[in-house]
Amino acid sequence: MALKIAKRSDISPFIVMDVMRSANAREATGKDVLHLEVGQPSTPAPKPVIEAAKLALDNQLLGYTDSLGILLLRQRLSDYYKAYYNLLIPDDRIVITTGSSGAFILSFLSVFEHGDKVGVTSPGYPAYKNILRALGVEVIEIQVNADTAFQLSTEVLSNIKVSLDGLIIASPSNPTGSMLSNASLEAICSWCDAQKVRLISDEIYHGITFQRKANTALCYNQNAIIVNSFSKYFSMTGWRLGWMVVPENLTRPVERLAQNFFISPPTLSQLAAVSIFDCVDELDTNVDRYARNRSILLTELPKAGFKKIAPSDGAFYLYADVSSLTCDSEAFCAKILAETGVAMTPGVDFDDRFGRNFVRFSYAGATTDIIEASKRLVQSYLHASRR
Ligand SMILES: Cc1ncc(COP(=O)(O)O)c(C=O)c1O
Repeated sequence: MALKIAKRSDISPFIVMDVMRSANAREATGKDVLHLEVGQPSTPAPKPVIEAAKLALDNQLLGYTDSLGILLLRQRLSDYYKAYYNLLIPDDRIVITTGSSGAFILSFLSVFEHGDKVGVTSPGYPAYKNILRALGVEVIEIQVNADTAFQLSTEVLSNIKVSLDGLIIASPSNPTGSMLSNASLEAICSWCDAQKVRLISDEIYHGITFQRKANTALCYNQNAIIVNSFSKYFSMTGWRLGWMVVPENLTRPVERLAQNFFISPPTLSQLAAVSIFDCVDELDTNVDRYARNRSILLTELPKAGFKKIAPSDGAFYLYADVSSLTCDSEAFCAKILAETGVAMTPGVDFDDRFGRNFVRFSYAGATTDIIEASKRLVQSYLHASRR
């Protein structure tokens, strides 16, 4: 007789990871794949980071660290907030985590009770709602669309019928890459303060923007929790390292949770990441490549039938309305992968209601791959239109 499996594990899969598995399975049979499905830089960590890791491997014990992370890395992050945002954030408000994914668990557990109501946008990054549901928090999906550039506004928030305990925002966002204006960010932060709603701002795509720098919610909301990561701009995805900035009175509760859930974030990655802040020139070169890739796709995708693309101000995604091509984006992506070797992500991962009409392209890869993928998509579209 099978023993019971806890209901809390019965959450949606992270479909991007499922698509990546199919793409890898195709690659294992010797067929090529152009990976426009997964949102990870195609560059390794910068050399000084690798050198620091080698040095640590040779010379350090690599045991546990403080649960909040090594002081040197927290200090370097504090310096980074001064240099990047001109904000003084003491290192005792900075918590190093196992990727931003680990930061979500710690932040949700530290501020939300079972049954609390937390707003997330739809479309939005799927793990927010999936983790919240696994923790017994009620997810309030707030539909956003092209009318508000797929971002929240205080007007949208004021129309929600339930009273929220928390709200998660991301600017630039995944899957669209759209950004909140500074005025909107400030208004949302003030709205959260006035309504006593705990704001969690996912700032993982800061550093990867094309028109203007993203501002942090820390400027406008003293109770906000900031979640960030070394995975995207810093090009250290598999090192599984992120961080949170928390209000002073949350450091100890988060520390207690981190001690018990994780003991400490990965030691080798922490020691290596201390060197990343000296590599800004190289990291900005990656952003230049994303900008080139974005501009290639914005020119080529319409020729491949992807004519309605959401505004993308940052991150490395384009979110395209494919309702004129299919009413089942999952089947559509599977067909394109089989026929062309181009992997992309169906919108159902990001939006339960309308996602079957959308697909997401990631342009974090090599420019040669983006050019080749565009060529194949255009050929496939022209071929299908001739049939
Ligand atoms: C918006 C957003 N937040 C968080 C994450 C998780 O990143 P990590 O756990 O690697 O820091 C991702 C990954 O794609 C993301 O797109």
